[in-house]
Amino acid sequence: MPVPLFDTSTPLQPLRPAIDAAIARVLNSQRFILGPEVAAFEAEFADYCGARHAIGVANGTDAITIALRAMGVGPGDDVVVPSFTFYASAEAIPATGARPVFCDIDPETFCVTPDTVRAALTANTKAVIAVDLFGDVAPVAEIEALGVPVLEDAAQAAGSIAAGGRAGALGTAATFSFFPSKNLGCFGDGGAITTSDEEIAERARMLRFHGSHDKVSYEHVGYNSRLDELQAAILRVQLPHLDEWSAGRRRGGQLYEEAGLGELVALPRATEGSQPAWHLYVVRGERVDELAAALSESGVGNKVYYRTPVHRQAAMAEFATDTPLPGTEEAARTHLAIPISPVLDAEQVAEVVGSARAALGASWTRRALQAALDAIRGRRAD
Ligand SMILES: Cc1ncc(COP(=O)(O)O)c(C=O)c1O
Repeated sequence: MPVPLFDTSTPLQPLRPAIDAAIARVLNSQRFILGPEVAAFEAEFADYCGARHAIGVANGTDAITIALRAMGVGPGDDVVVPSFTFYASAEAIPATGARPVFCDIDPETFCVTPDTVRAALTANTKAVIAVDLFGDVAPVAEIEALGVPVLEDAAQAAGSIAAGGRAGALGTAATFSFFPSKNLGCFGDGGAITTSDEEIAERARMLRFHGSHDKVSYEHVGYNSRLDELQAAILRVQLPHLDEWSAGRRRGGQLYEEAGLGELVALPRATEGSQPAWHLYVVRGERVDELAAALSESGVGNKVYYRTPVHRQAAMAEFATDTPLPGTEEAARTHLAIPISPVLDAEQVAEVVGSARAALGASWTRRALQAALDAIRGRRAD
């Protein structure tokens, strides 16, 4: 039985009539840019996240650049960012004139920690980007306690919950991507910035609109980066279902645990007190290439996402670091995403775990035997 890496279409099927009606509403209104749908979505999404403001923008990459500039980041500043992330988390920094300074992650959570961030702070650090990678939630409050503002890159974490609230409301500001495969995805590109800081919200609103309030006078050199009315209308239909979809993603992770996948590969660890809405379910193992080949052979979707970490990408050569990033290198070498979706069921999980066991089981059996022998020897020695 083939199991797709992700399934964005099944959860949307029952919503088709409501989505069609929302699209028709926009077409009938003939308002396509910054109209009532964007305003309503911004209010609903801010409320959902637990932030005072949401500002819709064209995509999750612009969201980071605009949020950083709204936080006062510019030429001469350093911004700390993990190297194990999607390239855009770092790409958005030079666009502000600032310099990315790469930090390490904890390979068990794939997120930055207060220690990895502390090690990368410089005299010029103006902000830290904490990425909620794969839907796990970075320890944003602990990092802000170091005394530096945090921009939470929550592109992959819509619907995730941390001890201190929802992703999107944990730091000075946060950014989201509504790329179609994301936890909350639109039908094209889209993004948002959330913040409870009035000044940051006000600046971000202007920056997305050519640095202006009214396209008559211009206070900043800004961008043309707006969420479309059509995308906002589509997102408004989906948002009320995000919690149910997130619960499905969490259930998928639990099913893998219950099926014993952790005996074969290292499973992702939720950061302390968090309830991740797994955007991707990413395991680690020394024989991950073998596992990938075997899963593909049985029709089970799988993908290596970030084999070359960002600090070693050609475009980042001028910002490359000499500081070793061992957690990053380990995650890059050993990770593999396996199927997850709001509707992943026990039968699909059994298929994935069965294929993984067939591929890695021999070594697992050897390891299990060795552990049993060691235990017996230990007992004899007592
Ligand atoms: C962690 C992370 N940051 C930023 C982005 C950029 O978002 P977008 O593709 O909407 O520009 C993405 C997604 O693609 C992402 O996964």
